[in-house]
Order: sequence, then structure tokens, then C-alpha cells
Amino acid sequence: MTVELARALSPRGELVLRRRDDGALELRVNGVFVMDDRETSSEELLASATLEAVRRPDRVLVGGLGLGYTVRALLADSRLGQVVVAEIEPDVVSWMRSGLVPSILDDPRVEVVVGDVRAVVTDLPDASVDAILLDVDNGPDFLVYNENSAIYSSDFLITCRTKLRAGGALTVWSSSASAALEAAVGSVFGTCDVKPVPVDLQGRPELYYVYQGSS
Ligand SMILES: C[S@@+](CC[C@H](N)C(=O)[O-])C[C@H]1O[C@@H](n2cnc3c(N)ncnc32)[C@H](O)[C@@H]1O
Repeated sequence: MTVELARALSPRGELVLRRRDDGALELRVNGVFVMDDRETSSEELLASATLEAVRRPDRVLVGGLGLGYTVRALLADSRLGQVVVAEIEPDVVSWMRSGLVPSILDDPRVEVVVGDVRAVVTDLPDASVDAILLDVDNGPDFLVYNENSAIYSSDFLITCRTKLRAGGALTVWSSSASAALEAAVGSVFGTCDVKPVPVDLQGRPELYYVYQGSS
């Protein structure tokens, strides 16, 4: 039997954290599946692809805390000095702080900022981070929050690029192939590396994607 662990309302809608009858922890927004803790390979690949691409991964910014898999994979690398996590939903952070979701917040290298990743990135000093990792939505073609379309635009990608140090990288998660995102990353960074990630969604094979540009 699926058990609801927590429910919250935000200006963007309704968030639900639930334990499915197969034992998995699942996050849903406005009734839409966002992620679970069963299939986390693409969230972890977002981190590993970044760590491979960046010359010196010391200070990085992650957009979207979710269930913490991308951040946890980053923290496994001892070269990481600081991970700033921008998370728009305060309840997602509270659920992790309270232990409803296994926490990565007690690692002294983690700083969580509750806010829109667009504002958090814009407020960074230029050339101040080695990597920016974006996993805030289901990708440009399946948005949970319509306002997030701006995150995949050339304008915001240009802003991201100005915040990267030399040898840095921007890596973006998407639940589907997006020629527009590939073109936008390519136009801002010169080239776009696309990594398809085969995933198993409760018995259904799917492909997720990671798009990357290096500075
Ligand atoms: C798919 S989850 C992230 C999964 C994460 N990579 C992991 O490993 O668990 C997306 C997260 O981004 C947050 N989010 C959505 N829009 C955002 C925005 N504009 N700025 C910051 N966080 C946002 C959501 O509340 C959610 O927690």
C-alpha cells in the first residue's frame, strides 16, 4: 500500500512525498512523478559527468535538491570544497532536515539556498564556480513549472557561462531529447556533449539525457 509521508502547498502547487508499495520513496508535484529513490542513475551521472569534465572541481552550484542523489554523488569526490544547492521549495529542504529523506545536509561542504536557481546563479560573482548542474525540472519539453522554461534558454545559459571559472562546465538534466537545448548549449559553449542514460522506470525502459558545455 502506498503511504503518504508528507504533503505541502507552495505557490507552484502541491508537493507529495510518499512511500510506494514497492518500498520506494517518491516525490510528486501537482500529481506528476518527479523522481524516486529506485532509479537514480541519471541524477548520479549528472554529477559524475561534471566531475570528469571539470579541471578542478572545488566550488560547484546545483539547481534542485530533490532527494539529494546528485549532491551525494558530488560529495563522494574529496576534491569538492563547497556545494551550493539552490532549491525553490522550502518543504523539500525541511523533509531532508527532518530525516524523512536521507540527508546530505550535515556535510559541512553543503550550503542550501532556498530560492529560484535563476536568481541564485544571477547573484553569483562572475567566474566564481567550477561547475553548474541543473536538474530543476523534467527538461524543456515536459515542464512541471512553466516558469522554468527560462532555465533552458540561451539567455540563462549565457549567465551560467559568465559565472564559470576557466575549465568549468555546465551540465543539464532532461527527461527527453531536446534539439533546442542541444543547440542552445552549443551556441553558448561552442559544443554540446549529449549523454543518453538508459533508465528503468518501474519496469519501463526509458532514456534520460544529460547536456553539457565546457568553458
Ligand atoms: C528532479 S528534482 C532534483 C533531483 C536531484 N538531482 C536529485 O538527485 O535528487 C527537481 C528539484 O528542483 C526543484 N526546483 C524546481 N524548480 C526550481 C527552480 N527554479 N529553482 C530551484 N529549484 C527548483 C524542485 O523543487 C525539486 O526539488
